[in-house]
Amino acid sequence: MPTIAVLPPAVADQIAAGEVVERPASVVKELVENALDAGATAVEITVEEGGRALVRVSDDGRGMGRDDAVLALARHATSKIRTAEDLVGVTSFGFRGEALPAICSVSQLDVVTASADGAGTRVEAAGGALVHVSEAARRRGTTVSVARLFYNTPARQKFLRSARSEWRAIADVLVLVALARPDVRLTATHDGRTVVVYPAAPTLRARLGAVHGAGYADGLLDVDDVDGAVRVAGLVERPGDVGTTARRTYLSVNGRAVRDLGLVRAAESAYRSTLAAGLRPSLFLTVTVPADQVDVNVHPAKAEVRFRDRWTVERAVERAVRRALGTFDSGTALGSGWRVVPRGAPGAVPVPAGGTWPAVGADVAALRVHAHPGGRPDTGLFAPDGALPAPFDARTLDPTPAGAAPLPWDEVERAPPGAVPGSPTGATSNGEAAEGPAAGDEIVVPPLTQLRRTFLMFEHPDGLVLIDQHSAHERVLYERFLGALERGDAPMQRLLFPLTLHLSPAHAEAFEAHREEFARLGYDAEPFGGASLLVHAVPTPHARFDAERCLRETLDALTGDRHAAAHARHERLAATVACKAAVKAGDPLSDGEMRALYVALARTTLPAHDVHGRATIVHLGWDEVERRFGRR
Ligand SMILES: Nc1ncnc2c1ncn2[C@@H]1O[C@H](COP(=O)(O)OP(=O)(O)OP(=O)(O)O)[C@@H](O)[C@H]1O
Ligand SMILES: [Mg+2]
Repeated sequence: MPTIAVLPPAVADQIAAGEVVERPASVVKELVENALDAGATAVEITVEEGGRALVRVSDDGRGMGRDDAVLALARHATSKIRTAEDLVGVTSFGFRGEALPAICSVSQLDVVTASADGAGTRVEAAGGALVHVSEAARRRGTTVSVARLFYNTPARQKFLRSARSEWRAIADVLVLVALARPDVRLTATHDGRTVVVYPAAPTLRARLGAVHGAGYADGLLDVDDVDGAVRVAGLVERPGDVGTTARRTYLSVNGRAVRDLGLVRAAESAYRSTLAAGLRPSLFLTVTVPADQVDVNVHPAKAEVRFRDRWTVERAVERAVRRALGTFDSGTALGSGWRVVPRGAPGAVPVPAGGTWPAVGADVAALRVHAHPGGRPDTGLFAPDGALPAPFDARTLDPTPAGAAPLPWDEVERAPPGAVPGSPTGATSNGEAAEGPAAGDEIVVPPLTQLRRTFLMFEHPDGLVLIDQHSAHERVLYERFLGALERGDAPMQRLLFPLTLHLSPAHAEAFEAHREEFARLGYDAEPFGGASLLVHAVPTPHARFDAERCLRETLDALTGDRHAAAHARHERLAATVACKAAVKAGDPLSDGEMRALYVALARTTLPAHDVHGRATIVHLGWDEVERRFGRR
């Protein structure tokens, strides 16, 4: 007596339906996707009791003839592919011929469809069986009504949640569809109330405005970038806004809304160093890859895809988002960003050619264009790598409190430029000769004013702009230190007489653990009995840099940070050293220093954000100012 039996078709269909139809929201998804595949320009959704009583989807698509309407309910019946090869690069949402039969097997289904205005067909079915086919008048298009979902599978019906939460799941599906196809008008009613009206929109931003409010959409940054065969477009949240509203993510691949943790992570990693720990940005990204690079047939509800070369796609996503964040606009509503003029124009300082945000590079000439009012040279406090004219002042390693030691300022100004003995970076005797751009635009530095020894202020066509001097310098140094950690080319100063530093055992241990990195940053030191260090060379990121204090404070921060993840180690160290090495609030800055900081900030890749995710730049629009004066 055999124990194996083939299941009756009705049972097999119900089992198969389990994969496709989980809850009313899945019915909505399948029916709306069918409408879109039929070329609809408007889709109306009617829901009753969270979809448990009724889900009805009407479209103005191409409709079906009588035979097709009947066949559509059969399993594996589809108009969308014919052979397995057609699966490669399939552009329709559907391709399995599973959705309608699956829904039909667990509900009472009614299809009214017409391929031209006038005479159409009505097909009624229940529990997977055809009940009646008749003629029906209808405008061109299709209406599919799904009543009493799971009426014949009580076990599954019990899994349905309240009407409210089923409706919420439906609303989420509608948002996904709305973002996938902004050009299609979507309306929905729930229990007789019109709850969703998304008019056809020309752009994703306009559609997001309809979905989440225009104010929200306006605050997002545009992403649009092509990397090889991969295009990444969409909108992302400004780092400064992250955490102020609920996080939202949307990702589509070749027009299909999908979940993909890897791509979301890639986009998030573009925010690296602009967000406080634990904050995650809102993202709305559409990724387009060549059809043969992606497999859409890997998930029962088509909610995931598989890439042939995932790494390339992730890299493209990260790059695209990073570029979007790299605009001045990302920090403030400045619009035009840094002003640039042709090279050589008055008031301009050179910036390397090639891209809006050139990498931090050496260009000491930039700092010398504008002489100090008193005829004194600019000190180059923010001079890029290798451009430092300041000789090392051993007093900065003197363990007397910083306040008691004279600033290395005077030394800087008295010393001949380029008196940098033994610099391994090859800084020339004439700082101006350090590598500079041969061509390209130049940044216009506006007149800057220092306020409360903390902020730099300047006028912009759109309003008043404030730069936080510490945050800005921190950003500049962070990017430079990160580069130094990767390339080991930090400007450093060899000491004529090595210095001995006495450290606590914990600090000595932290130094030893990071010795290689410290060397790349410019600290050439070796253990010298017990917990002491013999320092042969120190970094010289700027003229006022206090090498010992920075080292001690960095070691302090490192000893409190035991769980450093390996991949973030460089970033963390660069951020820590940058924070300790940057000018502080309260430090007076000369004109030249302010200008140099402005230029150096403009050259960073993410100028608008410091390494903790705070803004470096704040913008006060003229309209706001005028409002306060009652001029508006
Ligand atoms: N709203 C509609 N307008 C016109 N034709 C439709 C509509 N809905 C379904 N069809 C036709 O019915 C067929 C079967 O639909 P069904 O959703 O079951 O399968 P599919 O969309 O081809 O594939 P999948 O199971 O992946 O969704 C479709 O291929 C299409 O030809
Ligand atoms: Mg379908």
